[in-house]
Amino acid sequence: MHAISIHQFGGLNELIYNKQPRPQLNPGEVLVKTAAAGVNPIDWKTCSGNGASGFIEEFPFIPGWEFSGVVTDPGDTGFKEGDAVFGMIRFPQPAGCYAEYIAAPAEQISHLPDAVDLIMAGGLATASLTAWQALFDKGGLEAGQQVLVLGAAGGVGHLAVQLARWAGAHVTGTASLHNHEFLAELGCEHPIDYHNQSLNEYANSMDLIIDCVGGETGISALPCLKPEGVLVTLPSVTKEQVIAAGAAQRRRVEPILCQPSAEQLNKIAELVADEQLKLHIGETFPLEKADEAFELSQSGHVCGKLILTFDGQE
Ligand SMILES: NC(=O)c1ccc[n+]([C@@H]2O[C@H](COP(=O)([O-])OP(=O)(O)OC[C@H]3O[C@@H](n4cnc5c(N)ncnc54)[C@H](OP(=O)(O)O)[C@@H]3O)[C@@H](O)[C@H]2O)c1
Repeated sequence: MHAISIHQFGGLNELIYNKQPRPQLNPGEVLVKTAAAGVNPIDWKTCSGNGASGFIEEFPFIPGWEFSGVVTDPGDTGFKEGDAVFGMIRFPQPAGCYAEYIAAPAEQISHLPDAVDLIMAGGLATASLTAWQALFDKGGLEAGQQVLVLGAAGGVGHLAVQLARWAGAHVTGTASLHNHEFLAELGCEHPIDYHNQSLNEYANSMDLIIDCVGGETGISALPCLKPEGVLVTLPSVTKEQVIAAGAAQRRRVEPILCQPSAEQLNKIAELVADEQLKLHIGETFPLEKADEAFELSQSGHVCGKLILTFDGQE
């Protein structure tokens, strides 16, 4: 099967489009013919020797943790051949989703409703699960509360805005000015241009902050929290810094590590099918152009999600 793999950690040149053996099925797994795989910042962070690289025990390593596709071998599971599925699997252990075939744990994937586009679904699982778990599991969001999303136009941010609105919360979000119309379409009531506007006027007003940017950006938003509020910070590389700043200011900061969850994916798929949640595709790339997708993701200014597509070659 065709796949993207790396044979050592490094830059974009390490990504090689080549043939790799199809994965073998273990009990409880289904074999999926991949339709699309989402690109997330963790993918290039890991390939460069950061991110989840500590979990890689051997090369070649096939990147990618999320996918959509069609079941070709259901193994001993309840899935059937031909089922359309999507998911985020095994994270942070290697999952090999930048490949034409994926062995996926059945308990971590979800059926895709007919109404949901198969390519779009390839980029849905990681960002939506992260947004869900940050808002509801870590943040305990309730209707009527005030939420601030830092990085509201990005992969996680644009889904967090919509899920927070769906839950009945009021949403403020930061993004570059050219993305403010997009934020308004998502339901963000107060878009902030972080290049030119300070957060001063929002002091002590937020029940929950979803920090998709981290570092100094997350720290500078801490005064926006109400005394009992919580900031959930996503980028793991700066989490200690943000937690320490929160402790110094007596503000609650929670780090997060996104977990696979078929149960949450079922709910998310339902919301997408009902058009209550939309994944915005920033751009698609054929699998062999994964390096171009990584380069764009590294710019830090993707709107929505980047998705790799597969042409069905074997
Ligand atoms: N812990 C976990 O389990 C977990 C899970 C998922 C993601 N993450 C991490 O969370 C972060 C966000 O992920 P993502 O997929 O949403 O990334 P992304 O799609 O690459 O984020 C891009 C967005 O970031 C915005 N941005 C950049 N600098 C900003 C700033 N200073 N203030 C406000 N917005 C800014 C950009 O907005 P403009 O273009 O409008 O400027 C752009 O829309 C990444 O570091 C990722 O690794 C962690």
